[in-house]
Amino acid sequence: MIDFKQLADKYDTPLYVYDFGHISERYEELKKAFSGRKSLISYAVKANSNLSVLKHLAAMGSGADCVSIGEVKRALMSGIPKYKIIFSGVGKRDDEIEEALKEDILLLNLESEAEMERVEEIAKGLGIQARISIRVNPNIDPKTHPYISTGLHENKFGVDIETAKRMYIKANNSQSLDPVGIHFHIGSQLTELEPIKEAASIVADLVRSLRAIKIDIRFFDVGGGLGIVYENEETIAPYDYAQAIFSTLHGLDMTVICEPGRFMVGNSGYFLTKVLYEKVNEGRRFVIVDGAMNDLLRPSLYNAYHRVEVVGKEGEESEADLVGPVCESGDFFAKNRPLPPTEPGDLVVVHSAGAYGFVMASNYNTRPRPAEVAIIEGREKCIRVRESFEDLVKLEKMCL
Ligand code: LLP
Repeated sequence: MIDFKQLADKYDTPLYVYDFGHISERYEELKKAFSGRKSLISYAVKANSNLSVLKHLAAMGSGADCVSIGEVKRALMSGIPKYKIIFSGVGKRDDEIEEALKEDILLLNLESEAEMERVEEIAKGLGIQARISIRVNPNIDPKTHPYISTGLHENKFGVDIETAKRMYIKANNSQSLDPVGIHFHIGSQLTELEPIKEAASIVADLVRSLRAIKIDIRFFDVGGGLGIVYENEETIAPYDYAQAIFSTLHGLDMTVICEPGRFMVGNSGYFLTKVLYEKVNEGRRFVIVDGAMNDLLRPSLYNAYHRVEVVGKEGEESEADLVGPVCESGDFFAKNRPLPPTEPGDLVVVHSAGAYGFVMASNYNTRPRPAEVAIIEGREKCIRVRESFEDLVKLEKMCL
């Protein structure tokens, strides 16, 4: 049991707290599920990129899936070996490509022909061969929120099968490119297995047809997307997930890569915020807290559900909106949620805030970003201090 009250007293609120024991369990569970084949778990750094989180995962053997050179640098800094690092993303700058190639990471995941041309040219200039994979868009509806759905042709991600084929042939004939992997990722917070299996099967067929023309691909990267429980979702068991993927790979000896983000850290995290006061407007009850959309954006951006709990409070619950102080109507954590009566200073815990929480925080309204605390074997450690006002203005210049 985490003593939220003690942490809030010591570090103040708003505050992020992560249970590192939970992260270890998730990693082990997934690793075990994939143990029937050669596999690499490349944690999606974007979900929570705190250096201590990455170091913790590095110590367990995790790789990293990165979407900017900044994330690649974080992964390297935390001790994740370069041969376990992937650089993905729909648009990469020349300087990012060059730096990633110089770092000699496992591979660059490409999402267009134009990007491949850039990578080829830059690799040529450096006199090296770039290991690449290509993101295939299998045109599958993953049945998740449209903002986090990526596997349909109407989305900006990846290339269609025919384009992918053309790219592999071209890459295979290039002195500067080494096509080693194939990749797909159809969306995030997936709770249905069938779309994943269907996508894997389409991509595995492409691997077979490439093999027939002597293009041999070694890494089968299934992306991330495993959903977690926020409310009462039925989620996919890691074992079933791995088996579904394996079932599409008969006859293919490939290393399976997966890129879980949310699954690894989502339920490990809690967002702590304190009640400032309550008010009633025309019969509608609002509980106003000191955390806001700038700290945890998911409810505002995706209308996402996060369980909220008022610590140690009982009493008759009535519906309320849990809102922050930011001047936007979209600044809420929960709407029409039964909550007990609260008083100033009461502690509210927002659950499942470990993924896409702190990383999506901003300084909107000149609000410093929260501190982050890790619980490691029962002890707490501050892994990021709260920003100060000075931090917020230090890069600005007053030139008038
Ligand atoms: N691999 C690729 C290529 C991705 O685009 C993503 C997530 C992942 C892996 C990791 O997906 P995960 O296992 O975490 O589902 N901010 C949104 C989620 C955006 C996900 C973007 N891509 C949210 O808060 O729900």
